[in-house]
Amino acid sequence: MKISISSDHRGYRAKQRIAEMLRNAQHKVEDCGCDNAESCDYPDMAKIAAGHVSKGESDRAILICGTGLGMSIAANKLRGVRAALCHDELTAQLSRKHNDANVLCLPADLIGDQLLFLIVNSWLETKFEGGRHARRIEKIAEIEKENCPG
Ligand code: RB5
Repeated sequence: MKISISSDHRGYRAKQRIAEMLRNAQHKVEDCGCDNAESCDYPDMAKIAAGHVSKGESDRAILICGTGLGMSIAANKLRGVRAALCHDELTAQLSRKHNDANVLCLPADLIGDQLLFLIVNSWLETKFEGGRHARRIEKIAEIEKENCPG
């Protein structure tokens, strides 16, 4: 799978470790920065990696900041992006099964590396269930069309 990944300064260290784990698992990883732990702005970083998903250039994106909140708010402004902030394996699985989330947002300040790895792997392995959930995803796309023309 081609996965774009980005973080702000608070998520930098976790991003490096998650990117390494994904490469070891044979995923194609596009590291969109940041490139060190100096302060930067999460919307800039969300825009790059989630933008790849929005434009169809990556299958998925993973965004990491202190809480995951800023990244998820910013990423969900992009057309076609369904970004989910997940704190545990269950929400990661449900975000795939029910919401077909194509962007995963993670809180580096709130949970440790081992749980981050479990969340990422569950999220990547879980398939969208379709059915009634597909109808709801289509409704989200309609809201986007009505409110974000062009
Ligand atoms: C940066 O200080 C912090 O605000 C950011 O990492 C994130 O938690 C925002 O939602």
